[in-house]
Amino acid sequence: MQIAIIGSGYVGLVTGACFAEFGYHVTCVDKDASKIESLSQGIIPIYEPGLESLVQQTQRMGRLSFTTNLKDTVAQADAVFIAVGTPSRRGDGHADLSYVYAAAEEIADALDGYTVVVTKSTVPVGTCRKVLEIIQEKVKKNNSLAEFDVASNPEFLREGSAINDFMRPDRVVIGTESDGMGHDRARAVLHQLYRPLYLIETPIVFTGIETAELIKYAANGFLAMKIAFINEMADICEQVGANVQDVAKAIGLDGRIGRKFLHVGPGYGGSCFPKDTLALTRTAREVGSPTSIIESVVKSNEDRKQSMAYKVLQAIGYKPGMEKTIAVLGLTFKPNTDDMRDAPSLTIIPILQKAGIKIQAYDPVGCQEAKKHLRNIVWSKDAYEAIEGADALIILTEWNEFRALNFDKMIQKMKYPCLIDFRNIYRPEEMISTGFDYISIGRPTIYGAQLGSQKTAFVA
Ligand SMILES: NC(=O)c1ccc[n+]([C@@H]2O[C@H](COP(=O)([O-])OP(=O)(O)OC[C@H]3O[C@@H](n4cnc5c(N)ncnc54)[C@H](O)[C@@H]3O)[C@@H](O)[C@H]2O)c1
Repeated sequence: MQIAIIGSGYVGLVTGACFAEFGYHVTCVDKDASKIESLSQGIIPIYEPGLESLVQQTQRMGRLSFTTNLKDTVAQADAVFIAVGTPSRRGDGHADLSYVYAAAEEIADALDGYTVVVTKSTVPVGTCRKVLEIIQEKVKKNNSLAEFDVASNPEFLREGSAINDFMRPDRVVIGTESDGMGHDRARAVLHQLYRPLYLIETPIVFTGIETAELIKYAANGFLAMKIAFINEMADICEQVGANVQDVAKAIGLDGRIGRKFLHVGPGYGGSCFPKDTLALTRTAREVGSPTSIIESVVKSNEDRKQSMAYKVLQAIGYKPGMEKTIAVLGLTFKPNTDDMRDAPSLTIIPILQKAGIKIQAYDPVGCQEAKKHLRNIVWSKDAYEAIEGADALIILTEWNEFRALNFDKMIQKMKYPCLIDFRNIYRPEEMISTGFDYISIGRPTIYGAQLGSQKTAFVA
């Protein structure tokens, strides 16, 4: 089986490398010639644990290759996966489908024999059918004898654990359509492709095309809702002196609710939740079925990122004209990725800078990417350099290396020992003896520095 992947970003690369690992012959295509040049030499332009060695290994075995030549690659493929970006369209929040449709046009010109064209990009309901129309029209115009079907196969991998998520997913969703005579060639091809997962008893959910497209948005909408929900519970906890960690644990033990995605934070970010929730609200309105729940989730999350900046200003007792320096540890939207798309740091840091605060920042792998988005930052080589002379320290991303900071060393380097932990990676009880003021989310604040180590105050 020959597979072509159009778009060699996070999803395309992982999909390509994993299919190659399954034993198929895969060619990943990208428009970006410099990206293809690096990939051909086994250099991975993104940070994803395990990806570089998997790419190099499957390349060496001759099962994975990279090219900018879409035409020849598609002509030889049995299945073509569209894995191009679908960012939010400027202005209205709809998914920008221009890359998907452009890829469909190019694929149509290149088809030869029978091919299944699969949308793996996250696309609103109706996109796959539009891809079908684009290809049908072009094939007809070209007087081509090529035969094809379209299918939807949304991707659920998470950056940071993408390979494991692809190799051992909770489920695979495949949306296809039979030809009216009961034949479903696309389903047969995809069933064969995912056979290695079938063998490890991964549930494979076969649906219609529209259903598969909506499943992806429903999943992301629901997960985003859980995060927004627990974040709002955290705000209430802060007002009433309750502990959100215990609330999350206790409700999560209810099997109907589940423990995952009940971690508080500065608001969700990343390449998926913000744009997918927004796109879902737009689709819902367009079809006359507005989703007030997801609209609230979007607003709640946007408001949260801003309110986190004000929480920092409050914590340092900010007044206009003050000269303050804040250290920020972690800039990426989550650990184990260098992805900065919609990261909370991109909202929080500019608000602090606007208030005249100097920012010293460090991220284990994200600094290079962050430099494209953030200005006037003093970049540091590690956490201890970042906190030098700072009036407060914010943990914005829970990288493992921030989980065991040396507080004795830190207290000597900081102007004032204040730790604002937006990921709750430390426990208030253990912070009492450190001499730090410790502000976390939805839990008691410790005024270790101001009041001495024995006296703690619980803010209401
Ligand atoms: N990143 C994730 O964690 C994740 C998870 C699940 C689903 N998705 C979805 O998968 C899709 C891809 O996301 P991503 O993060 O991999 O995007 P990305 O921006 O990292 O990569 C997209 C790639 O497609 C290339 N491209 C665009 N048009 C092309 C064309 N016509 N021919 C060849 N290459 C082309 C771009 O150069 C880029 O390298 C999106 O719809 C996204 O929502 C992403």
